[in-house]
Amino acid sequence: MRAKVLLQVACLVSVLVSSLAARRFLEDKEPINNHDREHFVISPDVGVGEEPSHAEQECLRFLIGNMPATDHMALRYTFLHKQVHLALKARADNSWASAVPWDIFLNNVLPYANLDEPREDWRTSFYEKFAPLVSGTISTLDAAVALNYQIWSLGGWNITFKAGQTPDIMSPSQVISHGYASCTGLAIFFVDACRAVGIPARVAGIAEWVGTGGNHNWVEVWHDGVWSFTDPIGFPNRPWNRTWFFPDPVSGAKLHSYRHGVYAASFKPTGRVFPLAWHDEYESAVPAYEVTKYYLDAAAAAAAADPTTVAAAAAMETLGAVAAAMGRGEGWDVAEHGRVQE
Ligand SMILES: *[C@@H]1O[C@H](CO)[C@@H](O)[C@H](O)[C@H]1NC(C)=O
Ligand SMILES: *[C@@H]1O[C@H](CO)[C@@H](O)[C@H](O)[C@H]1NC(C)=O
Repeated sequence: MRAKVLLQVACLVSVLVSSLAARRFLEDKEPINNHDREHFVISPDVGVGEEPSHAEQECLRFLIGNMPATDHMALRYTFLHKQVHLALKARADNSWASAVPWDIFLNNVLPYANLDEPREDWRTSFYEKFAPLVSGTISTLDAAVALNYQIWSLGGWNITFKAGQTPDIMSPSQVISHGYASCTGLAIFFVDACRAVGIPARVAGIAEWVGTGGNHNWVEVWHDGVWSFTDPIGFPNRPWNRTWFFPDPVSGAKLHSYRHGVYAASFKPTGRVFPLAWHDEYESAVPAYEVTKYYLDAAAAAAAADPTTVAAAAAMETLGAVAAAMGRGEGWDVAEHGRVQE
């Protein structure tokens, strides 16, 4: 048991070290790959010089109380305190951000990670870069659209889709340094961009489509008590809930199936996990909600109510470079040889 934990730490550290070069845009930030076994006692004297406010303490408790064991050993208190500080700052910036219910904020704005991507401080730079882009927006959905329009080519970036990059390119700095990622890296990037400015967002996905195989991950954004979904990049002006996989192939997802169901990532434990398509048997320790029913119901309702809208959205998709680049395995995330066969 102990050996396994140590091995996990060693793996995490090696991942962090190997991504150090990619983390150059963070170079003025503190290192977070500190693997001395520091525990996150919430105490004013180990913070960033200031006593955490009551709200900050609640946020720290949430992160520390729900973080995976590997993070517990690898991340520093000062890193967490900075995440908390900036997340609360973003929450205060816009009225739609302040109105997000506290529990939704804790689980979908505050967290510094989505899946098993390398941990890093994307929030500092993302807040600086992206906060001005949403200053005139009127809702979380409106703000997310504004981000999706602008972030991929911001300041000379040219971030594009390229299949088969997971798990090598997953964290924001890895995406920036390569200039591309497959669906998971782009989804994480977009969720983090949303979170940096106070928009509740999470990664959703399926480990294996029924029939064609292949996995896909995308993004859900919270608004007014419900989640809406989109694919990052490609068609920033597409309507919410209209993507290349909707209503098909997601209408073929299987309820309560780990392999063929749809899951949305959570930071706090839920009793279920998010299937990670790049691991043997889709092994995972990432908490998740099963959202298959949401997609099945939405697909059925959309097809019944207004088939032409869905068909038009699908036609729009086929014009795009993203869908074309994805080819047969639309959303293909993991190299063929890395996939588990049934
Ligand atoms: C962005 O990168 C893509 C893919 O490499 C390339 O086709 C495109 O021309 C680039 N666009 C710009 C503006 O550099
Ligand atoms: C997206 O679909 C969900 C579930 O059907 C719905 O509650 C939500 O309002 C939709 N979002 C938008 C922006 O229409």
